[in-house]
Amino acid sequence: MKTKLLTQNEIEIAARLIAGGELVAFPTETVYGLGADAMNADAVRAIFTAKGRPADNPLIVHISDFDMIYQVAREVPEIAVRLAKAFWAGPLTMVLPKRSEIPSVTSGGLDTVGIRMPSHPIARELIRLSGCPIAAPSANRSGKPSPTTAKHVMDDMNGRISAVIDGGLCEVGVESTVICFDDEKTIHILRPGIISQEDLQPFAEYVYVDKAVYSQIAPDAKVASPGMKYKHYAPKAKIIPIETDDFSKFMDYVQSHANVNTWCLLFDSDPEPENVSFMRYGDNGREQAHFLFLRFRELDEHGADTVYVRCPRKDGTSLSVYNRLMRAAGFEVITI
Ligand code: TXA
Ligand code: MG
Repeated sequence: MKTKLLTQNEIEIAARLIAGGELVAFPTETVYGLGADAMNADAVRAIFTAKGRPADNPLIVHISDFDMIYQVAREVPEIAVRLAKAFWAGPLTMVLPKRSEIPSVTSGGLDTVGIRMPSHPIARELIRLSGCPIAAPSANRSGKPSPTTAKHVMDDMNGRISAVIDGGLCEVGVESTVICFDDEKTIHILRPGIISQEDLQPFAEYVYVDKAVYSQIAPDAKVASPGMKYKHYAPKAKIIPIETDDFSKFMDYVQSHANVNTWCLLFDSDPEPENVSFMRYGDNGREQAHFLFLRFRELDEHGADTVYVRCPRKDGTSLSVYNRLMRAAGFEVITI
């Protein structure tokens, strides 16, 4: 199969492919998604094959306007309506009871389904023109960092899918915040994104973050969100986060462990290090989210074998970056 690279003026071609049961990758404000008609079980099965994704890891169903939620969800609680008004279109995914019309392959066999209305105009137009909700995981091969450019998608998926729409670099850079509701008063954060716990707090009595966000889950453990148990987001290089307030301690550690292909991933405000290759990824959560996956892929292109990373904060937007970094590092961190 030859993978077509489409421009943003060719969304109609992409929509016809989706409607015909084929796979098309497209930009969203978070990362590129690998889309198929969410109601077409064969098309959705092809997503799992193209990605090499475990069949029990459910997909997010993308919609282009609020009313489409009723084609996907069996029940929509008041709290979900309030959150949709506040955060859609945007990087928030809500897990709700699924309608029986949604094939069980889409939801990884669960009777719930993750739903999101992306804000990216290309994504919205693609859904609208396709005439169906679009199931889309991130468009990387399973285990690799999520793609934030069309080139990343091509690097992983060329020859495996029908087309990619090139929408340039994604703005947010990490995947959406995924939540479910334990009840009308309680928001349970399954995966942190740039919509933070603090942002969600005004909408519920309790907002809590699943423990799998901070620590390793045994592969056979029962988890609220299957995606959390798989190793993820990892470049080929070994990622070693170092937690310290003191840049000189960070550099001392790196200098005493460095070899030829050792790199550092630093904050923008850090001084320039001597005798070691480095990249920077911003100073705050928003910037670090934007750059993290991009830097992972660049580090691989440079042949990095070990990368020591300045550890992001764990609050607000930064938690999304901390979580991706920990997953890339297998939750091993050096604290100095
Ligand atoms: O920003 C995003 O969310 C991107 C773009 C393309 O929209 N999509 C994305 O999809 O990151 P994916 O498949 O890479 O991640 C979906 C996550 C997985 O961790 C999955 O386990 C979880 O959402 N999830 C999906 N449906 C779920 C459900 N019914 N219950 C619990 N977790 C669910
Ligand atoms: Mg993914």
